[in-house]
Amino acid sequence: MSEGLVASVHPKTAPNAEAPYREPSSARAELDRLWARGRAFLGTDLAIMGGAMTWVSERNLVAAISNAGGFGVIASGSMSPALLAEEIAATAALTSKPFGVNLITLHPQLMELIDVCTALRVSHVVLAGAIPSAAAIQRIRDGGARVVCFAPALVLARKLVRMGADAIVIEGSEAGGHIGPVSSAVLTQEVLPHVTEVPVFVAGGIGRGEAVLSALDLGASGVQLGTRFVCAHQSIAHPRFKRAFIRASSRDAMSSVQLDPRFPVIPVRALANSATARFREVQRELIDRVNRGELSLKEAQLEIEHFWAGALRRAVIDGDVENGSLMAGQSVGMVTREQSTAEILGELIDQALAPIAAREGRLRKSMQPAGSAEVRDPGG
Ligand SMILES: Cc1cc2nc3c(=O)[nH]c(=O)nc-3n(C[C@H](O)[C@H](O)[C@H](O)COP(=O)(O)O)c2cc1C
Repeated sequence: MSEGLVASVHPKTAPNAEAPYREPSSARAELDRLWARGRAFLGTDLAIMGGAMTWVSERNLVAAISNAGGFGVIASGSMSPALLAEEIAATAALTSKPFGVNLITLHPQLMELIDVCTALRVSHVVLAGAIPSAAAIQRIRDGGARVVCFAPALVLARKLVRMGADAIVIEGSEAGGHIGPVSSAVLTQEVLPHVTEVPVFVAGGIGRGEAVLSALDLGASGVQLGTRFVCAHQSIAHPRFKRAFIRASSRDAMSSVQLDPRFPVIPVRALANSATARFREVQRELIDRVNRGELSLKEAQLEIEHFWAGALRRAVIDGDVENGSLMAGQSVGMVTREQSTAEILGELIDQALAPIAAREGRLRKSMQPAGSAEVRDPGG
């Protein structure tokens, strides 16, 4: 049982031992019914995945999310197989609860990384980046782990299910980091009614429990959040990185800008800073040089791609919030202070339960026979 869950459901075992014991509320039972499939798939109390965030989602945050009842996911980024093995072992030493590993499909040693996950009995592997190969999916399944894939559109979700994905994450453009073009509000309507063979988790723009409930009401099996966990006490992100999140409002988390269709820019949502302004200038200069014949298209494209190399590490680890990349989703506006992961999860649960309890209250009221109030309370 998670710390967050203990606090919100079983006051008897919470720090305040004076509080009377309450049975889990019917609202809680309804929430558990709504996300039963997601909980069963992840093997957790809560069907809330802590989305992998490169440099942020390492052993401490991942174990903390899992220990609090959610599902932590290690971001392997560009780690070597040896480094990943070390991170998985270190995480397993901090939690006995399930957690997953996020692998980037474009990694040159993807197959070796999969073998590391198999050897260390990782239960769930999340494949991110480009569309995964059938061979990668099969190798993970042959090793005994479940495969989770990102689908930015219905047609891809269907294809990935046919290829053997055990679950799908649909991530809207409100999310932090690399994003697709479609919002969560539309993706949920486009995908959820049609992909029922496997559990589907919704990511992108979820900052409060009411939004968790809304995704479940629409048919999701669970959710994935990244931005809300960056400022967890257990996140190793640099204090300046966390401060930038706490100060930011939703509209500061902007998608990267592409100035010329000849030079594709992979859309990334991040807090605007000096680096994002300079990125626009660099693109403008490169376009001018190509137009003047001083640079080939290929050379210019390479410079554009190299611009952000190492930038996330610079911001998350070194705290260089002006020259690094401050990847953040629009839900950053709902990050108001540092909190423990258990507190963040507890808050999300309470916010999801409130509208369920309100619905139940309305239903009970509507089912009361007319005039029953007068019968019970004749004195008025
Ligand atoms: C700083 C940061 C780094 C991220 N790095 C990765 C990553 O390495 N792999 C990945 O699949 N997703 C990555 N993401 C996306 C998250 O896993 C998650 O899906 C996303 O944050 C959910 O949307 P939200 O930011 O609105 O909560 C990153 C997000 C952030 C904010």
